[in-house]
Amino acid sequence: MPEPFYITTPIYYVNARPHLGHAYTTIVADVATRFNSMTRAETFFLTGTDEHGDKVVRAAKKENLSPRVYVDKVSGLFRDLWPELNINNNYFIRTTDPSHIAVVEQILQHIYDAGDIYFSEYEGMYCFGCERFYTERELIDGKCPDHETEPEIIQESNYFFRMSNYQDWLINYLKENPEFIRPERYKNEVLAFLREPLEDLCISRPKSRLKWGISLPFDNEYVTYVWFDALLNYISALGYPEGELFKKFWPQAQHIVAKDILKPHGIYWPIMLKAAGIDLYKHLNVHGYWNVEQSKMSKSLGNVVEPLELTKIYGLDPFRFFLMRDMTFGLDSNFSEAALVQRINADLANDLGNLFSRILAMAHKYFDGIVPGVDPKVEAQLQLGLETDAFAAITAFEKNMETFAFHRALMAVWEFIGQMNKYIDVTAPWEVAKKKSNSKQLQALIYNLLEGLRIISGLIYPVMPDTAKLMQKHLGLDPQAPFYLLDQLRTWKTIPPGTKLLKSITLFPRIEVERSDSALQRQSNSAPAAPEIKPQVTLEEFAKLDLRVATVISAEAIPRAKKLLKLEIDLGEKRTIVAGIAADYDPERLIGKQIIIVANLKPAKIMGILSNGMLLAAAEGDRVTLVTVDGKVKPGTPIS
Ligand code: MSP
Repeated sequence: MPEPFYITTPIYYVNARPHLGHAYTTIVADVATRFNSMTRAETFFLTGTDEHGDKVVRAAKKENLSPRVYVDKVSGLFRDLWPELNINNNYFIRTTDPSHIAVVEQILQHIYDAGDIYFSEYEGMYCFGCERFYTERELIDGKCPDHETEPEIIQESNYFFRMSNYQDWLINYLKENPEFIRPERYKNEVLAFLREPLEDLCISRPKSRLKWGISLPFDNEYVTYVWFDALLNYISALGYPEGELFKKFWPQAQHIVAKDILKPHGIYWPIMLKAAGIDLYKHLNVHGYWNVEQSKMSKSLGNVVEPLELTKIYGLDPFRFFLMRDMTFGLDSNFSEAALVQRINADLANDLGNLFSRILAMAHKYFDGIVPGVDPKVEAQLQLGLETDAFAAITAFEKNMETFAFHRALMAVWEFIGQMNKYIDVTAPWEVAKKKSNSKQLQALIYNLLEGLRIISGLIYPVMPDTAKLMQKHLGLDPQAPFYLLDQLRTWKTIPPGTKLLKSITLFPRIEVERSDSALQRQSNSAPAAPEIKPQVTLEEFAKLDLRVATVISAEAIPRAKKLLKLEIDLGEKRTIVAGIAADYDPERLIGKQIIIVANLKPAKIMGILSNGMLLAAAEGDRVTLVTVDGKVKPGTPIS
């Protein structure tokens, strides 16, 4: 049995709504947990909210709410968001939970009794934004590097944690355990910090200044500094000290944080654990920052990305895939909708989506949707390389997932997808199918391709669980079964011949970008583009288009898309289409109008709406004029 797996995210401050950055870390934890369940490990995934301190009091005041009411409200936003993103945390901790408070009190008392907490007068430069004192050396031009404000001089008596006593011990520990903080650059950052003398940490705030916190068990005039309170969530959630969960999972603990909170996790936390006589965590996994259109995400810049809004437009699995594929874990990444659309169209709609529908369509065409049996002799003659390629993909996937190199793990899967597509092109099953005597060869080809799809569905499971299940269902397999277990993926040929496949579907509709955004359209504003010269077509080719008359039933604008309208049309049947005609047509003017539709155009998702058909219009520079019929015609009438 593999070792149990325990993963945590930071517990998020409740002074702001959840955004893309929070979603990223929490999806990483979900992906890592799902990956570990592929190895049959027992897993525990923790997230939650950090609810004490100045920041929260100020945010509550702004909304005219008491801290208690305010924290309940915002903590609820986080808790409710995670299931919407298919995030399966085992527990959601809040630092206002009585069981957490009891652990904080217990640890404080323990360290105090051991002599590592002392009382002292202190005058220092305090940043209210960060809720901490700064040393001269840490300031940039006399200002807090994060808030770019001058800290205030504060003089008060406080309790201090003797971190300085542990500096040499920590340096040695980091050197002896090079994987403790990873990737390596962040371990080096912590070591660089430790080259200077480590100051003791002020762990109290007088109640005269802040009441919203956990009272020190040895002095009721003070509350606990938020970081000393918050970090302990990682053990209080497991029922420290006696809980079964603590005993089972703590020795395997792995934290995920972004680089902004490296210092509390890489320095305060290991020293707190050491001082309290608790074993250290196993790994601190540190990732970079998501910037938006090249700048830091911030309320004042108005560029905060709301995860739910994106999933509504682009779909949940594509959103999760983009985050895991586009960020190199450890480095910063830039988020843009254009990059998201490009990824979806290239990797998902083209590579994976086409592969899936191609294979299912062939299985239906040649074998009526029933998985064929395979003659081992024929298979041996064919020397199919797919099994070896699949193995290589699984091995690379596993190695990279273990070290949080998600983008590399996905690259390995996509390399296999590419090999499958190439394999179809090279073996050309449609040519093989032309000769009756080749039927056994065709069986072997299609069977192996279906097996390849089974492996792919297992490997994408941690990142795109819904798509993985949908693929399983269409392969005639049980989507509720643990089809993603690595040992099962390593066993080739497990789909039973005779299994009934479902009809092929479009896994990921292509996303059409609003035309006004394209460079092409911008050019056409300055000079009218000459009509494109297209190659001649035969009558047969033209006849492939299913053109029909439709009547517009309703029309409405689409939020955030200036050029687009959503139309409900009657085409003999009801359909929805999205059309780029908002600049020239008011929605009301369209109702009852008869238009011409390409009825057999592949459906595409545009701004989150599945558009099933395309209307015809004359495009004169920027202006569009609808093509219509000269007199009333029955909806659905074909154009010939
Ligand atoms: N409450 C503390 C953590 C205490 S843990 C014992 C805190 N909260 S926070 O709400 O500010 O969350 C910070 C974390 O949110 C980052 O470490 C990261 O996980 C995530 N992110 C916030 N913004 C982010 C980006 N722009 N990009 C990537 N992750 C980001 O700090």
